[in-house]
Amino acid sequence: MEERSGPGVGPDDALATAWRDARCGELSELWLDRRVRLAGWVHRVRDLGGVLFIDLRDRAGRVQLAFGSDWCATETLAQARELGSEDVIQVEGEVLRRPPEALNPDLPTGGVEVHVDRLNVISRSAPLPILVAGLTEDTLPSEELRLRHRVLDLRRPEMIHNFEVRHAAVAAAREALSEEGFIEVETPLLTRRTPEGARDYLVPSRVNPGEFYALPQSPQLYKQLLMVAGYDRYFQLARCLRDEDLRADRQPEFTQIDVEMAFVDVDDVLGVCERMLKRMWSRAAGVELEVPFPRLSYGEALERYGTDKPDLRIPWKLVDLTGLLSGIGFGIFDRTVEEGGRVRGFVARGGAALSRGAIATLDELAREVGAKGAMWLKARAEGWSGPLAKYVGGEVGGALHSEHGMEEGDLLLMVAGPDPETGRALDALRREAAARLGALEEGAHRWLWVVDFPLFQADAGSGTPIAAHHPFTMPVEAEPERIRESPLEIIANAYDVVYNGVELASGSIRCHDPEIQRAILEVLGFTRKEAEDRFGFLLEAFRYGAPPHGGYALGLDRTVAMMVGAPSIRDVIAFPKTTAARGLMEGTPSHVEPDDLAGLHIQLCEDD
Ligand code: AMO
Repeated sequence: MEERSGPGVGPDDALATAWRDARCGELSELWLDRRVRLAGWVHRVRDLGGVLFIDLRDRAGRVQLAFGSDWCATETLAQARELGSEDVIQVEGEVLRRPPEALNPDLPTGGVEVHVDRLNVISRSAPLPILVAGLTEDTLPSEELRLRHRVLDLRRPEMIHNFEVRHAAVAAAREALSEEGFIEVETPLLTRRTPEGARDYLVPSRVNPGEFYALPQSPQLYKQLLMVAGYDRYFQLARCLRDEDLRADRQPEFTQIDVEMAFVDVDDVLGVCERMLKRMWSRAAGVELEVPFPRLSYGEALERYGTDKPDLRIPWKLVDLTGLLSGIGFGIFDRTVEEGGRVRGFVARGGAALSRGAIATLDELAREVGAKGAMWLKARAEGWSGPLAKYVGGEVGGALHSEHGMEEGDLLLMVAGPDPETGRALDALRREAAARLGALEEGAHRWLWVVDFPLFQADAGSGTPIAAHHPFTMPVEAEPERIRESPLEIIANAYDVVYNGVELASGSIRCHDPEIQRAILEVLGFTRKEAEDRFGFLLEAFRYGAPPHGGYALGLDRTVAMMVGAPSIRDVIAFPKTTAARGLMEGTPSHVEPDDLAGLHIQLCEDD
């Protein structure tokens, strides 16, 4: 993190300007007995009669100003008494040690105060719609109000901290990548549609009636073109725009640290990404990550955790109980197995303490994510309890103990059904039960690579193959014919970085072989003409000598949100949108006059 403020920034190192000699948060004992000019916002005023105290604030922090009749002219004191929260002032005075009873060890500047003798009121603040000073988590205004009055919200020290961390993270990434020979290249914002799976934002072209640019969902195709152009190590702080359903970790515009490299294989790319993340976390979060991160195949991740984004802070793993629990007379399980499904579950340590109400909530959760419900079994001192209790005596109970480590006080949570649903439900149950039982490893940073994704997955509705990552991913050892014949079996050279259960980065080795690329596009249902039309410029470039290449993109907003423990990426984006894709402060999107639309050759439908 930037270490300018706090003790150590003396008069020679301060950021002096025409208006001030230092920033408020930079004052310390190093300034004692000096005259200083400061400027900033009135954070808090305390009038003790004899002396008036004002906390003056700027980005670097706060310092205490004292106005007293012994060193202040009467008018100055009177003027100071008029001041209110968020007025902007400039002051001049002497830096003195605070009396012992007034020392504030919680504040970096808490050993000093400035005895002000000159006051310049620069601008007054209107009554505040939301407070800046003195807010706690409990008194924080609603997010809607915070977003509407974002300028005031951004003044809060917690928000300033988030952006300092964001800056440090970006600076560290730039430094780490530059040291490894990467150069930063910008790619267009007005572009063609990119296949990242979301809807595009379109921009009408005034000079080309009826034609539209698409805003990039990512710089994917351009970075691959840069590889063909020979710019063998590229990166970009890339703004990406996606018209998709929004939630706490998704914004319509967000930033990726986008990286691509030529003449590399998976290990090279993962190594660069790990070293970049290590530098970022060290500088911005003060955490030393252990690299390399463990790797888990997509298949194993689904089997052990039910998800490709497992939270490894939770120690429990899923187990297949089909063999053990079918044929014991419990009808639901037998029927599931007859229908080709499985019974899977996990032992939640100490989970027998969960009430029936809590278990009912877990059952509800399993249903919400598409399963038929959750089954449970408690191991208590007095014996088994739960719907399965009477079926698990003797051998079955013994096996739960010896093979799956179930002890007294534990809870076995199970879901029966076809595979993707059981996995999804068990993932949700695992996270929820761990949260309720306090089973998350506190303060841990659990990273992993999930590798070997499938190249295609079946579309949930139609069952036809769609790209699991994007269409330019290289399969692991596959002939074009096999891709055409059994696409859903093909493994891709694709990988994700998962941190504490959240996907932060994603990438792949790209397809630089035109034959394989053609087979992939065919499986995805692109005719030759459609493929030419949409990606012709990329396919054409590949004809003139394409190096093997690969890369990744790190979601910067998600990464910084994790570093500062923010509940939403909106807290680390200066001017974010709501989940309804609106900018509440500036009022976006907004209506456009018919004349302006006509200039763009656009006419609105009647019912709009
Ligand atoms: P992908 O689409 O997985 O890959 O995106 C990479 C990372 O970007 C972040 N991310 C988002 N962050 C905030 N809001 C969103 N709407 C959003 N969508 C994605 C995530 C994600 O892991 N071109 C490929 C990368 C590559 O193959 O090199 C791509 O964009 O943290």
